[in-house]
Amino acid sequence: MRSDYCGNVSETNLDQTVELCGWCHRRRDHGGVIFIDLRDREGIVQVVFDPDTADTFIIAESVRSEYVLRIKGKVRPRPEGTTNSDMATGKIEVLGLELEILNKAETPPFMIDDNDVSEENRLRYRYIDLRRSDMQMRMRMRAKITHRLREFLDDQGFLDIETPMLTRATPEGARDYLVPSRTHEGAFFALPQSPQLFKQLLMMSGFDRYYQIVRCFRDEDLRADRQPEFTQLDVELSFVNEEDVMNLMESLIRDVFTHILEIPLPDPFPRISHAEAMSRYGSDKPDLRVPMELIDVGDLMQDVEFKVFSGPAKDPEGRVAALCLPEGCKLSRKEIDGYTSYVAIYGARGLAYIKVNEVAKGREGLQSPILKFLPDEAIQTILERTAAKDGDLIFFGADKARVVNEALGALRVKLGQDRGLMEHGWRPLWVVDFPMFEKDESGNRWQALHHPFTAAISDHVDKLETDPGACLSRAYDMVLNGSEIGGGSIRIHQPEVQQTVFKQLGISEQEAEDKFGFLVTALKYGCPPHGGMAFGLDRLVMLMTGAASIREVMAFPKTQTASCLLTQAPAPVSDKQLREIGIRLRKPRAEASD
Ligand code: AMO
Ligand code: AMP
Repeated sequence: MRSDYCGNVSETNLDQTVELCGWCHRRRDHGGVIFIDLRDREGIVQVVFDPDTADTFIIAESVRSEYVLRIKGKVRPRPEGTTNSDMATGKIEVLGLELEILNKAETPPFMIDDNDVSEENRLRYRYIDLRRSDMQMRMRMRAKITHRLREFLDDQGFLDIETPMLTRATPEGARDYLVPSRTHEGAFFALPQSPQLFKQLLMMSGFDRYYQIVRCFRDEDLRADRQPEFTQLDVELSFVNEEDVMNLMESLIRDVFTHILEIPLPDPFPRISHAEAMSRYGSDKPDLRVPMELIDVGDLMQDVEFKVFSGPAKDPEGRVAALCLPEGCKLSRKEIDGYTSYVAIYGARGLAYIKVNEVAKGREGLQSPILKFLPDEAIQTILERTAAKDGDLIFFGADKARVVNEALGALRVKLGQDRGLMEHGWRPLWVVDFPMFEKDESGNRWQALHHPFTAAISDHVDKLETDPGACLSRAYDMVLNGSEIGGGSIRIHQPEVQQTVFKQLGISEQEAEDKFGFLVTALKYGCPPHGGMAFGLDRLVMLMTGAASIREVMAFPKTQTASCLLTQAPAPVSDKQLREIGIRLRKPRAEASD
């Protein structure tokens, strides 16, 4: 139907007749002449209709926003003084000779270039929202990124193999989405939280190198970087150790950054242990663009009068840490209160601080409600350790280490953003040497920090039973600018070791047999050493496009409450459908929908 894309018409087409299709982005009636900005996926071009072509002019008068049009016209230079350097096609215009309305459109719920539309409206009318140039740009970039990832892995001999969507629960730590079976009444499939077990089975089958760009489903609390269904780039390799996997995976990411953004990432990526990440940044996904670090001061607080500090300082599970904000003296009382409320979200019960007016004056140069509780020596050492300068402000967190890390870790990033301390650029890193297990919320049970198929580092295998808390795993996470973009590990390939880990996790032999019997059995029939990794594709694209949330890089995302405003899913189903799958709702429908 057309000769060119609107956005591609240029000076090289001067004097040519072009046929274009697209949407009416804007129509302006300049008394006598009508301008239509015609838009397609490549951009916008200005089409001019004048009364000399009377039939066409009459049609042009009836065109409204978002009408779908086909035009035929002649490309000409814009008259002097009317060129638009902000527009790719700003030097030319098309004189409209023929105009066909392919379809009318009702007045859209919002204008395509209105940047102030509620997210609810954007999601309800997503097909219109996706017409915006930034959404078009992000979806195209996403397609380019996945294409490049595939190219790289294809070249490296990886096979793209699909795995089932209707399957058994795979433990990645979230709640499952369940699908009732009609043919096996009372039984349920689970949608995969990841293809973890299947990709391990593929290694046992000898495929050696597998990848898949695959949808995963997790019923968990949603945030800006989490969706109930999201996409992984999932990879697994046989006969490898962690060096092999990490080297290949970082070259994959370097490759995609070079090809898509023309940005060279460091080679190699720096690595830091989980313990060091927690200690220096209070986070297992540190944003290295923020220069501040957490500094331990617990040893100085053992005997101070201030119980808020001495308590956690003496508690083996406690932590007292400082965070020095450059030029923090500029913070107003109100701003400090704001940060105190911010850390409260993470469970912190307060946010003590010292304003450092003049280091050289010692105590006299400082200002703080807690100064009176601290001996001179402690104050001096704090100033030395934090390397505080005149005008800085030192924040303190004291509590269980988990609370202090979460609170000061988040505060560190927030201050970095708010106070303009964020360095520019890309700071990837690996976090390694994760503990195998962590205590669950009750504090009584061990749970896998990654998933239960992660191998322990070889000298720790003996400790799996005797000292699980001290066991480190062969897992690695890739972090980019404070986002965990991927994670993986070398897997357990011996059935006995797998059984031991299940036991530590409090999974009984029977339960292990019921849930993962097929895996343990498969391990007995010739399983190669293997390992792999999965990237959160949406997160990667979010970072690469500079989007604020993964919803901005998904064509049809869900809301924060895991629903689709466009299709109104999830939705009730008929009683007949429920009967077929043997399900009766516990509450009558009206009540349930309350
Ligand atoms: P993991 O659970 O770490 O590992 O997931 C891999 C990556 O997927 C992304 N991700 C998400 N993205 C959007 N929304 C979510 N709800 C969400 N959850 C996770 C993250 C994460 O790093 N089977 C293992 C991988 C392996 O061991 O090979 C796994 O799924 O970027
Ligand atoms: P209070 O004695 O409770 O008034 O606290 C004195 C100062 O210590 C205030 O600035 C509080 O915000 C701060 N504070 C209280 N609890 C903690 C805590 N757990 N960690 C860090 N600072 C705290």
